[in-house]
Amino acid sequence: MSNNSDLVQIRPLGHTKLFQPIKVGTHTLPQRIAFAPSTRQRGTSDYYPTDLQLPYYKARGQYPGTLVITEATYVSPGGAGRANVPGIWNDKQAAGWKKITDAIREEKSYSSVQLWHLGRTADPAQLKHDGQPFIAPSPVYMDKDSEEQAKKVGNELRAATKEELEDLINNVYPNGARKALEAGFDYVELHSAHGYFLDQFLNQGTNHRTDEYGGSVENRARLLLAIIDKLIPIVGANRLAVRLSPWATFQLKEFDGEEVHAYILKELQKRADAGNELAYISLVEPRVSASYDVAAHDQKGSNAFAEKIWKGKFVKAGNYTYDAPKFETLLHDLDNDRTLIAFSRFFTSNPDLVYRLKNGVALQHYDRPTFYTHDNYGYNTWNQHDGNKQFDKEVEQKRVGKVLA
Ligand SMILES: Cc1cc2nc3c(=O)[nH]c(=O)nc-3n(C[C@H](O)[C@H](O)[C@H](O)COP(=O)(O)O)c2cc1C
Repeated sequence: MSNNSDLVQIRPLGHTKLFQPIKVGTHTLPQRIAFAPSTRQRGTSDYYPTDLQLPYYKARGQYPGTLVITEATYVSPGGAGRANVPGIWNDKQAAGWKKITDAIREEKSYSSVQLWHLGRTADPAQLKHDGQPFIAPSPVYMDKDSEEQAKKVGNELRAATKEELEDLINNVYPNGARKALEAGFDYVELHSAHGYFLDQFLNQGTNHRTDEYGGSVENRARLLLAIIDKLIPIVGANRLAVRLSPWATFQLKEFDGEEVHAYILKELQKRADAGNELAYISLVEPRVSASYDVAAHDQKGSNAFAEKIWKGKFVKAGNYTYDAPKFETLLHDLDNDRTLIAFSRFFTSNPDLVYRLKNGVALQHYDRPTFYTHDNYGYNTWNQHDGNKQFDKEVEQKRVGKVLA
């Protein structure tokens, strides 16, 4: 990948609020740009971080004070279910991640990990291979393919038992969080967005439970809040975060909407008022559903409600380049002085995105076909603004990651 890619023209933002300091959690960052968590499937097939990921994240953290929220990372073998995604439940995984967080720290930047459980979006065959059950709030399959596959391999989707939920609260998430701290992450974020396990509890289409984890808004939010309450003394509220996507329909039939998220934010604000303010709330804007743009006429809601409830910091993501070179939305959202802007797609293709935004250097367009491949092509093969290295596609496609330990 070189400078021949399509270019998106931008204007310099160095003089705007994007490049003014902001306090987040335990740090004061010199600018307000984050790398949005981005799964790239460059881990090993058995869930270890690799030597491909290290230079990738070091490059994304090359401008001091960038908040690098690495990628969704399995909290446990039971939360896994797609190969080549790294986990963070054992010492060897933590040791690998430590090399990555050290590399980010060497650049004077900060790291956050996103703890992930797939729930019904896992591949039932992969879970079967790993000796794990296929669980979700309720046995509501994502689609026909998932149902057929689950039946074929004999690993049918079932509702998580109360004991399993208690184990997640008391053991699984605390273990993942402890390993993340051992791995040197500055922040620990819970993935409660985009139709994954924790979000499946929030959503009425996927949560049909009749116990205290289903039904009312309070009940649907119970698991997430219980995990947060358990993690606050372990991680420290000021190093803990959560990601929410109120308006995304990705892997869901209906979006979750405002009501359940307003309740979660009110509850988190109560904890903040009692001295336990989370480091940040990561909010996905309605302009995107996961990594896809949503056309303006299909955008059903707005995150304006969240600002009225939550008084702490936000990390917001969602096609903030759509109105480039003006960047009116980005500048508007920065105006409250408690927001960071996160980028995913353009950070995949511009390791020096911070420099480009500051100085108005055109952005290389991202390459969707290489988002989820497992080799180095389209990963560590993007030039900086001043680079012109030509990469040999065949050579890079043979370069697969080796375990970092
Ligand atoms: C390749 C790719 C992988 C992604 N993986 C994750 C992920 O692991 N966790 C998550 O919460 N969002 C994930 N997202 C969504 C992004 O974090 C982000 O919210 C979305 O892409 C919108 O930001 P953008 O317009 O700057 O790309 C991913 C997006 C892309 C493009």
